Amino acid sequence: MHKVLVVDDDKVLQESVQKALEYHHFNVSVADNGREAVDAVYREKYDLVVMDVNMPEMDGIQALVEMKKHDASIIVIILTAYSNVSDAVKAVKEGAFNYLEKPISSENLVALIKRALRARSMVETMAFSAPTLSLGTKNKSDQFVGESDEMQKVFNLISKLAKVNTPVLIRGESGTGKELVAKAIHFNGPRKDEKFVTINCAAIPENLIESELFGHEKGAFTGADQRKLGKFQFAEGGTLFLDEIGDIPLSMQVKLLRVLQEKSFTPVGSNREIPFDVRIIAASHRPFEDMIKDGSFREDLFYRLNVLPVYLPPLRERLADIPHLISYYINYFNDLHQLSIKGVADDAKAGLLAYEWPGNIRELRNTIEHAFIIEPHEYISLASLPEIIRRKVQGEKKQELVALDESEETESSIIDYQSIQNSVFDKEPDEDKPQIDHKFSFSSSEEHEKLDFQQAKDFFEKEFIIHALKTNRGKINQTALKANIPKKTLLRKIEKYGITPKDFY
Ligand SMILES: Nc1ncnc2c1ncn2[C@@H]1O[C@H](COP(=O)(O)OP(=O)(O)O)[C@@H](O)[C@H]1O
Ligand SMILES: [Mg+2]
Repeated sequence: MHKVLVVDDDKVLQESVQKALEYHHFNVSVADNGREAVDAVYREKYDLVVMDVNMPEMDGIQALVEMKKHDASIIVIILTAYSNVSDAVKAVKEGAFNYLEKPISSENLVALIKRALRARSMVETMAFSAPTLSLGTKNKSDQFVGESDEMQKVFNLISKLAKVNTPVLIRGESGTGKELVAKAIHFNGPRKDEKFVTINCAAIPENLIESELFGHEKGAFTGADQRKLGKFQFAEGGTLFLDEIGDIPLSMQVKLLRVLQEKSFTPVGSNREIPFDVRIIAASHRPFEDMIKDGSFREDLFYRLNVLPVYLPPLRERLADIPHLISYYINYFNDLHQLSIKGVADDAKAGLLAYEWPGNIRELRNTIEHAFIIEPHEYISLASLPEIIRRKVQGEKKQELVALDESEETESSIIDYQSIQNSVFDKEPDEDKPQIDHKFSFSSSEEHEKLDFQQAKDFFEKEFIIHALKTNRGKINQTALKANIPKKTLLRKIEKYGITPKDFY
């Protein structure tokens, strides 16, 4: 989701712009003046700023200059009163993308924003094409997918972490890609030609962990009939990935801490201290804070490992990645299984987007592979997905409003009228009220008495229907079905708002 900052000292205008943009799936924050806006941009990464010119504290032009100093790629759109167009022209010279005159129609604003984002993404792909991360595998098709802002942040962090030698602790639910991050750090850093060694601390019985990590001498314990190298020795010069570090027993935590502090270890049954040069990357899905409180994880070891933390958000918090992961896995499994699946049917896609993915990317990958095997057609259908995902789409009209794959003009093809109705307005339809038939626009606060519920409702309804018709290329039956509007209602609204479905063929 793109992050937009709306800056205006006029609260009414600020709020209406915010609502309209949220309706178009932007992640919107607000600021009341230029000073506040500049602070916000310094604090957090925004894709785009929509900003008034005349404001107390700091005006829009000054704020624009400050913002551009900090983040040259930030897109700024200036809102200006008709009388102040010369200010707007100045703003454009200072690097604003464009300006809009008040009163502002949401249609124009959204169109302008989309144009700006498209323009920027073209420039960006040419300039440095989203960071590609080598995973060091032989298979070139192995990729680290991450188009969402959240993952782009992780990618940036990885490229920084790769350069230093400090321990890293990667946290995140199971299946979010922690091991992938560890590999990316290793294979993008100076140790990339050395070994990347993994030990899964949760999979090794307590009494064997020490010898797995540090090795043992012949005869060190019953069954130790050979001398054995530990992972620390094996990884010498390279990286040791301590996966599921949250699962190691307390006794081992003490030993590990000492080893990390001393930078040397002693194999079991030996009295030789062996110095090592190994980069440590640890990962876990465990809640360390709770474990430290209840005494099951040592605070000192946690701080030792947590020098550079990386957090991987669960998949349900980065929906923007789902369509890309789907296409990635479709290519991947087509290659692997010599198949030629072309894509995912719309209803199946809606299910994949609405599902919460408790098992994260691992679960998504398995789901797609499973669907590949049983799908008789060229497109993965809803029928080939697990029951729990099918239920997301079928039965109750519970589809969630989700932005789908950007392939179709960046518009989603499943939109649900009812869910918007329910979330935006009260449930009772208020059809008896006289209909106000003038274009709703965002205007300054002098006119704010005109803002009433019915008007807002009509505005959203009309926008929604236009959006639904566009998505379904003006086809009435399809629009009614996909957007979950009774056909009769749809036709009545089309007439009411004077919409011409033919415009969208
Ligand atoms: N961003 C991603 N892009 C592509 N594949 C991913 C991504 N994140 C995870 N995977 C895949 O999902 C599976 C689980 O990832 P893994 O790193 O083992 O997760 P974790 O260690 O957090 O449980 C692996 O098959 C991995 O290749
Ligand atoms: Mg793992």
